[in-house]
Amino acid sequence: MLALRQAPEGIARAEAADSTSALAGLGEVGDALNQALRRILFLPEQASTFAARVDQLHYFELGLMSGIAAVLGCAGIWFAFRYRRRAEGERTPRVVAPLWLELGIAGGLLGLFLFWWLIGYRQYLHAKVAPAGALEVYVTGKQWMWEFAYPRGRNSQGVLFVPAGRPVKLLVTSRDVIHSFYVPAFRIKQDAVPGRYTTIWFQARTAGAYRVFCTELCGVGHSRMWGKVVALAPGDFERWLAGWNPDAADLRRLGIDLDGVLPGDVPADEEEADLAREGQRVAAVRGCLRCHTVDGTPYIGPTWRGLYGSVETMTTGERVFVDEAYITESMMDPLARIVAGYPADMPSYQGLISAPETAAIIEYMKTLWGPVPPDSVAPPPPGGVPR
Ligand code: CUA
Repeated sequence: MLALRQAPEGIARAEAADSTSALAGLGEVGDALNQALRRILFLPEQASTFAARVDQLHYFELGLMSGIAAVLGCAGIWFAFRYRRRAEGERTPRVVAPLWLELGIAGGLLGLFLFWWLIGYRQYLHAKVAPAGALEVYVTGKQWMWEFAYPRGRNSQGVLFVPAGRPVKLLVTSRDVIHSFYVPAFRIKQDAVPGRYTTIWFQARTAGAYRVFCTELCGVGHSRMWGKVVALAPGDFERWLAGWNPDAADLRRLGIDLDGVLPGDVPADEEEADLAREGQRVAAVRGCLRCHTVDGTPYIGPTWRGLYGSVETMTTGERVFVDEAYITESMMDPLARIVAGYPADMPSYQGLISAPETAAIIEYMKTLWGPVPPDSVAPPPPGGVPR
């Protein structure tokens, strides 16, 4: 409750720090320059209060390094020309720099280093220490998804809902291996380490939807460990906290478009995920899980984990590729081709299970691959229906 109260000083501090950016001081020219450089470097939008500052550091470093490289390159070319060997046997003159010059160069570089360190330290503190009164959200990474838990007891999976215009502090941990929580549009990235809480904060500028990636190789599902941040106007966020569950259409009405938030194939993927969830429900309701486990243990029938896409040997010795066709056949005419080692016990589901339900079950089976997630549902008790 305390953490949810508005924090005027926190916001003021975040905004004050934000307006100190060098390009912001240039007004419209600075804005145009910032946007042009951002596009040239293929950087995503600057959706958090310090994204622009991170980018300016990026521009500054690139500019400085390019400048130094140009000066050194030109000096090299000039020296090669100016001090080239003009006659056979000519010796390179020995030049001894005076002490004051050597001390000046060494001291100047040291001073520059310390000065930068000081600036960097202040900026590091700004990026790492959340303003007082920030909304706290617990973030848990696990193979292969992100879970979020809020102080008022709500929690969500895959989608982090936050209020726009308020600082949000993330307390990040992992349930299994090291993951890394990365929101490119916010320019924040934080390792999620098992057994430890790390923190990072941000303040979304406006309502919108942004991508979340995992940036620590965490297993076979790493590249698909996606999520979204949905920043809502403060009033809408309060509604969400109170139990409102907006769908994509609701969010579009608020001007938040989920399309294109994640790589192209994701909308279809999400439908699959929904279908798979439906398949999980259907499999429990229709009693499939009385005989088939989903954790890799053979039971009365073959386990569903890793079954889709595998090649199974039948009682006849025939080898069958387990695809949609075979799975559907097994539901409708189970005795036609039985996997070797299992009894001919399965009843036909012809007429008992609809085509969409069949599809949902197949989609569910497709999700059962790789090792069993640590918190997955335990295998069904013999003869019992889980949940
Ligand atoms: Cu989690 Cu990569």
